[in-house]
Amino acid sequence: MLDPIDKARSDIEAETLDSEEQVESFRIKYLGRKSGIVTDLFAAIRNVDQSDRKAYGQRINALKRFAEQRIEQARSTLSGSTYGDDQVDATLPGRHVPTGSLHPITQTAEAIKRIFRQLGYSIEEGPEIEDDYHNFTALNFPTNHPARDMQDTLFLEAPPPLGTGVLLRTHTSPLQIRIMESGDPPFRVIVPGRVYRNEAISYKSYCLFHQIEGLCIDEGVTFADLKETLRLFARQIFGSDVRMRFRPSFFPFTEPSAEVDIWWSDESREGGQWLEILGCGMVDPNVLEAVNVDPERYTGFAFGMGIERIAMLRHGIKDIRLLYENDVRFLDQF
Ligand code: PHE
Repeated sequence: MLDPIDKARSDIEAETLDSEEQVESFRIKYLGRKSGIVTDLFAAIRNVDQSDRKAYGQRINALKRFAEQRIEQARSTLSGSTYGDDQVDATLPGRHVPTGSLHPITQTAEAIKRIFRQLGYSIEEGPEIEDDYHNFTALNFPTNHPARDMQDTLFLEAPPPLGTGVLLRTHTSPLQIRIMESGDPPFRVIVPGRVYRNEAISYKSYCLFHQIEGLCIDEGVTFADLKETLRLFARQIFGSDVRMRFRPSFFPFTEPSAEVDIWWSDESREGGQWLEILGCGMVDPNVLEAVNVDPERYTGFAFGMGIERIAMLRHGIKDIRLLYENDVRFLDQF
């Protein structure tokens, strides 16, 4: 006849453990705290001769470990893995944790800021909700002047003479006024920010976009300084082989005024086209007077550039709308 320990071992070996339920009843039958077979064998040590107790204890411990191993093996087979919860397979490849990256608009804004910081410009920001005075009137847009129509936007309050004309700013130029109102010349500042316009939406225009305003006011600043600053900027951001042109233009707040175009080569659009990236000019004496800067003593220039279009030229992005769709397959590339 088998002794009870050997009998228990062969019973344990013979058990079928093909389901969670079978494993659980196996556990209770052999290791249950109240009347598990192995548990009872532990209790029976009381009846064993003092001299045999040590050997008996070792055999029961081995039996208990054997029962536990059967449970572990059955559980890991059932959970579909050859490894238990507490085991690690160090040969598996690591889990991929996707890292984010800065949006191409942010990256381009940072690159532009870096260039102007090197030229001694400081960086300011201002409100996206503006009043008619800072967005238009102080910038020498007479009431009812057609130049206002070119920058139609969302009004939060009716424009004058009906209301105060609180609006979503159409450009970052109001910051020219706010900066000059708040200090004394010289000024050398750039202002990044979001602007809004009632635009016909297309591959190169959107109803919301980002600009960087630049303002440089000092004694003896000329149009040559403006041209050279923007030429240096374009060469740094697009490379020294950039094709750029200054084109005469009109803004109420600069005189003379110009726009800068960059050649956008694109085989799918008849080889390419000129793409306007900024407006600029010498700050109009009327604007300087409106903020109490003496136009007989100080001159200067301003410019406002579109960050999206610069990002498109840098990265070969053919449709501005891609920049607002937040499609990770697109953004992943930058
Ligand atoms: N604010 C103008 C625009 O958005 C650009 C500009 C800025 C022109 C500064 C001249 C000087 O179209």
